[in-house]
Amino acid sequence: MDKERIEPLVTVHPQSIQGAAAVALELVDLVEANPRAVLGLATGATMVEVYAAVVAESQQRALDFSRVTTFNLDEFVGLPAASEHSFRTFMNRHLHGPLGIDAERALFPDEELARTSPTEAARRYEDAIHGAGGIDFQLLGLGRNGHVGFNEPGAAAASRTRVVELHGVTRQDAASAFGGLANTPGSAITMGIATILDARAIRLLAFGNGKAAAVRQLLRGNEDAAWPCTYLRGRHEDLSVHLDPGAAQELS
Ligand code: GLP
Repeated sequence: MDKERIEPLVTVHPQSIQGAAAVALELVDLVEANPRAVLGLATGATMVEVYAAVVAESQQRALDFSRVTTFNLDEFVGLPAASEHSFRTFMNRHLHGPLGIDAERALFPDEELARTSPTEAARRYEDAIHGAGGIDFQLLGLGRNGHVGFNEPGAAAASRTRVVELHGVTRQDAASAFGGLANTPGSAITMGIATILDARAIRLLAFGNGKAAAVRQLLRGNEDAAWPCTYLRGRHEDLSVHLDPGAAQELS
């Protein structure tokens, strides 16, 4: 019912760096208060500034991240874990390495299992999230096409962790990193929309003009499977959205 919809808290920062720093501070405060926090993490260019700020702030506070558990939102299917393009490699470089989070506490869908039984790898990943007691704090980026994680257009609000085919726009956005579209994976395992909504707090960040249309749908559009981000609005009590002026330009 519309009257029961809970609106997200939206902040438009002067520049992306301030948005990244605000979310990073929340994450570091959480780990300081609860060294066993369970974090849900995202990849992508948007997160690079967030992780840099998390690393700087936690080093300044001499915080111990060794008991934190992390679950990444998604991973490509078919890449070796050590691939320079895997999300695990991205996370090692930007966060887990600098913070000293061991691989066994830095969880991803099982790449090896995913080669032969991707559906089983997805099921086990969803189970592992539940087994850890759920996610305390979930970071989210936003695809230009409105995807969250790899919940592409057409995804269902009730979706759980599963294997998905990647959308053309998503593959194009990833293609330069893979040296062309032909080398870009066609599928991935992603937490579902319902999995994401189970997190106790969600922080979505979107920066730059390229995200403006998806941000407009997220904050002004009706719920629409063509824009999976619209499922987040009105369904979570602790969702904050952090934007820069470019991403917010279609809101007024
Ligand atoms: C990928 C990830 C998403 C991320 C999106 C945005 O598709 N699977 O989780 O939100 O990229 O990436 P960027 O921050 O580079 O715009």
